[in-house]
Amino acid sequence: MAAQLIDGQAIANQIQQEIKEQVAARVAAGKTVPGLATVLVGGDPASAMYVSMKQKRCAKVGITSFHVELPADISQEALEKKVADLNADPKVHGILVQLPLPKGLDEERVLQAIDINKDVDGFHPLNIGRLAQKGREPVFLPATPAGCIELLIRSGVKMEGANAVVLGRSNIVGMPVALLLVERNATVTICHSRTKDLPGLIRQADILIAAVGRAEMVKGDWLKEGVVIIDVGTNKIETDDEKGYKWVGDVDFEAASKVAAMITPVPGGVGPMTIAMLLQNTLKAAALADG
Ligand code: GUN
Repeated sequence: MAAQLIDGQAIANQIQQEIKEQVAARVAAGKTVPGLATVLVGGDPASAMYVSMKQKRCAKVGITSFHVELPADISQEALEKKVADLNADPKVHGILVQLPLPKGLDEERVLQAIDINKDVDGFHPLNIGRLAQKGREPVFLPATPAGCIELLIRSGVKMEGANAVVLGRSNIVGMPVALLLVERNATVTICHSRTKDLPGLIRQADILIAAVGRAEMVKGDWLKEGVVIIDVGTNKIETDDEKGYKWVGDVDFEAASKVAAMITPVPGGVGPMTIAMLLQNTLKAAALADG
């Protein structure tokens, strides 16, 4: 049986509509317009594109975005000073420093400089630390991991007691999504480049989160019948057609569709959800600032 498609674009549109209504309601009530500052350091084209997409989406829901572009050779002190200025700006409720930072800059120190109540990316060490501890609440959840969980929730997938396999252990996706699954009482296995018998472990998954960044690495015969697949991978591969390329996930979509119960497409799965969750965090940050 063909897998049911988890339409991330449709779910993200629905969330964005909800956010748009909530922003309009708070503005109508005389409260501040939520504001997101995006900080882009250096000229990496992919990072510039991601930031531009985030700004466009802000505009669509009525969130003001403030863009800060800084040169790749900026000093650590000057970058932290910029973050401090944004911390102090009452129009800015959320601060997003696009990662990765150019070489020579200390990412952890920059993330630590962000006011925890404005950390809409959820990457502040305190937010991540709280995520890793029972009974502690992060102020914000990282957007992509939160988007994966939201897709599972809105698709009616039961996480409690499920065998969840996370492929990849990055700070941005793999590790935090594993923590979120544990919080929801899944039994979680984190796989990575040194994992022995990867196919064997993945075959045990009721839920697979693939976030390793390797095109179509997970094959159809690595999957259990009825698995639910959230594919975070966005890999560009060459094609013979006029366009010359296409985007694929970390999972062989065609083969997986024949075995899985549900699967996210690439593009149109997790990608749109990342921005939707960022907007949701920015709205929450504005509400926190209301006092
Ligand atoms: N780089 C890749 N993903 C992200 C993200 O979600 N936030 C930031 N700030 N940088 C990223």
